Amino acid sequence: MRWLTYLHNRTNIFTKVLVANALIVVTGSLLAVAIFTYAWRGQTPSPSVELLLVLVGLASSLGVNYGILRVAFQPLFTMHATLDRVRQGDFSARVPDVGGDPDTARVIETANLMLDRLAEHRQAVAAQILRAMEEERKRIARELHDETSQSLTSMVVNLQVIEQQMGGQPEELSGRVRLTKEVAQRTLDETRRLMFDLRPSVLDDLGLVPALRWFISQRVQPMGLTVEFQPAGLDHRLSDELETAFFRIMQEAITNTVKHARATHVTITLAKEGGAIVGSVQDDGSGFHPMRVRKDEVGRGLGLFGMHERAALVGGSVDIDSAPGRGTTVRVTVPDRVRGNEAGG
Ligand SMILES: Nc1ncnc2c1ncn2[C@@H]1O[C@H](COP(=O)(O)OP(=O)(O)OP(=O)(O)O)[C@@H](O)[C@H]1O
Ligand SMILES: [Mg+2]
Repeated sequence: MRWLTYLHNRTNIFTKVLVANALIVVTGSLLAVAIFTYAWRGQTPSPSVELLLVLVGLASSLGVNYGILRVAFQPLFTMHATLDRVRQGDFSARVPDVGGDPDTARVIETANLMLDRLAEHRQAVAAQILRAMEEERKRIARELHDETSQSLTSMVVNLQVIEQQMGGQPEELSGRVRLTKEVAQRTLDETRRLMFDLRPSVLDDLGLVPALRWFISQRVQPMGLTVEFQPAGLDHRLSDELETAFFRIMQEAITNTVKHARATHVTITLAKEGGAIVGSVQDDGSGFHPMRVRKDEVGRGLGLFGMHERAALVGGSVDIDSAPGRGTTVRVTVPDRVRGNEAGG
């Protein structure tokens, strides 16, 4: 059988098809000759024997043809199956080495190289987009902090002073001043909330745990969900890039729970596991099919996509365990790279 594999690996598809068809013709001809020889001896075969011979001849010819073509085209079937997986969003799929002739091997190698390049390109573009997005968020947050919120604060303080010194003025006037102060205060609170969403300064100043605690208190608790937050083992600062990625992924997972899960309880954990930091967000909500989320609807499904991209960019991963009716658990793993030790990996 080894000589068959040897021949299979060194014969191209054209030759294989040629051999298959030649075999069919030869088998057919040999059978026909056999029938005639049989007939010339004066022993004309009965119609049923003749039919049997024809059927055996046909079946063996078709069998040989099918077998050889199946083997010859197997690499192409495998390639088709792999490209189909890529089409469905599994960008890590590669065509396995299934043997075959040198031409097919070259096609498979080229296809795999192309898929590698595509993956590299996707990652580079995603990195650029995420970096640009983060920079832009930082810039807007800084502007809101330095300009808008300073102006609003001074407005609120001034209105407070005016309010205090308005004794003896008509009630309507002091009422308007109070109302204006309240509107200014609300706008200031809203601006601070926006600033936090854009770029939480507490993340830069104090790190992941305080930033997550702040986010939970602002975004989850007011929604009436019971939250358990169990941060453990993270008493050091991670590199800037890792903290941003980790926070954004956790932020998205928590926001998804609030937005989609209709959960009553959410458990958020943070732990050091070997050389990695692992975060998880587990809810008891409606759950969903992670593989069936469509990325092509405008404005939908970008959150999950971004989570995987962000994690991959810092050498980490995101694992989503969910099914309808079973709640959702999102697990984020990133390398434990301490701040100031970025180059060390
Ligand atoms: N914790 C969850 N519980 C139930 N369904 C969820 C949960 N997380 C995600 N989903 C489902 O997966 C879909 C995709 O989530 P994803 O975060 O990618 O997009 P989105 O939240 O709809 O929009 P955005 O791009 O603003 O994040 C959601 O629309 C929702 O149907
Ligand atoms: Mg989302």
